[in-house]
Amino acid sequence: MKQLKIGLLGLGQVGSGVYSILNSKGTELARKCGTRLLISKIAVRNTSKRRLVAPKRSLITTSALSIVRDPELDVVVELIGGIHPAKELILAALRSGKDVVTANKALLAEHGRDLFREAQRCGRTLLFEASVGGGIPIIKATREGLAANRIRSIHSIINGTSNYVLTKMASSHVDFKEALSMAQKKGYAEANPKLDLEGIDSAHKLTLLSSLVFGGWVRFQDVFVTGISSIRSEDVSFAEEFGYTIKLLAIAKKTRSGIEAHVRPTLLPKSHVLSNVNGSYNAILMHGDEVGDILFYGRGAGSLPTGSAVVSDLIDLARMKREGLKLPAPLHLNRLHVRNVSVLESRFYLRFHVVDQPGVLARISRILGGRHVSISDVIQKERKIGGVVPLILLTHKAPERSVLRAVQAIDRLSIAKGKTQVFWIEES
Ligand code: HSE
Repeated sequence: MKQLKIGLLGLGQVGSGVYSILNSKGTELARKCGTRLLISKIAVRNTSKRRLVAPKRSLITTSALSIVRDPELDVVVELIGGIHPAKELILAALRSGKDVVTANKALLAEHGRDLFREAQRCGRTLLFEASVGGGIPIIKATREGLAANRIRSIHSIINGTSNYVLTKMASSHVDFKEALSMAQKKGYAEANPKLDLEGIDSAHKLTLLSSLVFGGWVRFQDVFVTGISSIRSEDVSFAEEFGYTIKLLAIAKKTRSGIEAHVRPTLLPKSHVLSNVNGSYNAILMHGDEVGDILFYGRGAGSLPTGSAVVSDLIDLARMKREGLKLPAPLHLNRLHVRNVSVLESRFYLRFHVVDQPGVLARISRILGGRHVSISDVIQKERKIGGVVPLILLTHKAPERSVLRAVQAIDRLSIAKGKTQVFWIEES
């Protein structure tokens, strides 16, 4: 039987998942693709670290470079993450004639054009199923199953850590810090969870997804990002009273004026299908011109789910090699125009902290009205005469720029105590 000789860079969560799947299902997978998927070398930084799996010592090396240059290997699987040295290692692997599989969304989102160009130049294949949505086969589904469609929009929850935190804030009525510490105890959040909580991980994934489906390259720096760390438990409760949940939503749309792409805490009607995606789960809702709405749901992280996505790429490579085929380039690399979010229109949730005295609501609505921002709903529950109270307004559709300018003017008033919270509302 044919063999696909694999060099694995990294044996952390995902690397261990890949090793474990190939180790436990070797024969079954070989039957599926007519090729034995063989891990021939594994590079790790620290050989004495305790791991989830225990490969033979003879497979392990500390030299990633020796793997990418090894003429015996067919494929390099990059699972070390980060930008450097992952980028240099992938380039070296491609240049030495190897196909590459990676789960590295940060690297692809920020340097993907260089890497895909080099893969093309070298006549090699660069696959990345595990980089978006963990175990959800979203790359293959969009490239193949949805190939007949023009994708108009993506609404997605593509970071499990922040979704777990927001779910806990809503279900256990705890504040952000407590919910984060629950996530950390469960092992969901990284020691430094900034990339997850500040929306950057979601923006990396949205960059890749939108580049894949909109027929050009969306630059990561053009994707607007706000994270979830400023959400208070009172915002979660007020949103709920209005009939909404708060989710860290990654949204992209293709419009006549360009691409819209943003990641931010977003109010979604409770009846929306993504409102019920809870815990560490991910979901991606797309709208195709032929298929209509289509939803993908599953585990967006974790050793085995993400490992399963990597292995699916290896199976694809094995099948293609066996048939002597090449996958067409997955992406067009021409840059797409991304609209500045400030011109986009939406309804907004505004939570002010203001002194409770006559005329405050009138002053706020006058400033909003002056910018043509119209109010649709109001809540002000507690009454502390002369004290500070939360005042929540929902607006009708308005350009974000007008809303933000009005809020800036309101925040400068002496009646305003603290910075106003502004959240996007997505109705459909
Ligand atoms: N850190 C990511 C998450 C998983 O929390 O969803 C890896 O992409």
